Amino acid sequence: MTSESTVRLVSDIDIDSPRSVTATREVKSGPARHSAQPTAELSIEAIAKSFETTNGIVEAVANISFKVCSGEFISVLGPSGCGKTTLLRMIGGLERPTAGDVLVGPRSVWSARQGASDAVSEMAFAFQEPRLFPWFNIEDNIALPLRIRGVQRAARLEQARELCALVGLTGFEHARPRQLSGGMRQRASLARALSVNPRILLLDEPFGALDAMTRDQMNLELQRICSTTGATVILITHSITEAVLLSDRVVVLSSRPSRVQSIHKIDLGRPRNIDLQSTVEFQGLVRRIRHDIAGYPA
Ligand SMILES: Nc1ncnc2c1ncn2[C@@H]1O[C@H](COP(=O)(O)OP(=O)(O)OP(=O)(O)O)[C@@H](O)[C@H]1O
Ligand SMILES: [Mg+2]
Repeated sequence: MTSESTVRLVSDIDIDSPRSVTATREVKSGPARHSAQPTAELSIEAIAKSFETTNGIVEAVANISFKVCSGEFISVLGPSGCGKTTLLRMIGGLERPTAGDVLVGPRSVWSARQGASDAVSEMAFAFQEPRLFPWFNIEDNIALPLRIRGVQRAARLEQARELCALVGLTGFEHARPRQLSGGMRQRASLARALSVNPRILLLDEPFGALDAMTRDQMNLELQRICSTTGATVILITHSITEAVLLSDRVVVLSSRPSRVQSIHKIDLGRPRNIDLQSTVEFQGLVRRIRHDIAGYPA
């Protein structure tokens, strides 16, 4: 653990006091991404997960706690296999924790005996692979969550067209997924996640398979979309640069079973552009985070 001022232990005041996070960001970084209320949108409370396998018990997540403010952008970094996806799945109601809970505002995701509660209706996922249905065109893919929720066809297609515009896919509404590039498919996947107007967006390495230039472009798109929608975001990524570019805070997890190793506050103004990456301040943040990730080559 480094003693740098940007690094906070999970027990430090700022993560349990969302007000201090937002206040500091506004003072030090110029305007916030949008007018975020200083409220804890999401509380991850002493969450842990062990899997029973034929080879014995695999302890994936040991004991993780942190809070996320409304409108905040959090990235989670950690060594491969440390439990990032497992953590995100527990937050999103897809994987029941062995211990602990997740709260959306005051509502518990996991207190129900049978499964995740309706607190998860506030959330949407996007994954590393776009997971589009090949037999649907793009607007039908984007509108699918609305169809499942019983929204009438005309209304859901109108919304899908607006989302196509938001993610830069206008003109491709009637194309099939195979007719789009990888980056375009990932935009469609993001639009589908946004279709339910989620307060919380959970992203598991959504740009991991893209080339560097498309990834930079998608990072800027995501920043713009978040500033438009005001969504709270948790992004799992292996890219420290991506994490620093996009985040208000970066959570570094330890090796498996994962715990919070450190939390880095990113006090850089917004909107951020790619050139920011060559500044001394940006590179200093990248270096500090890199030093905190277990096993990162020197
Ligand atoms: N359903 C499962 N059954 C058994 N073990 C699992 C299951 N899901 C995950 N694990 C184990 O839990 C650990 C954490 O996996 P997880 O996918 O969360 O890691 P990760 O940090 O997302 O990895 P990566 O960076 O490679 O995506 C791994 O050891 C994995 O084998
Ligand atoms: Mg993963």
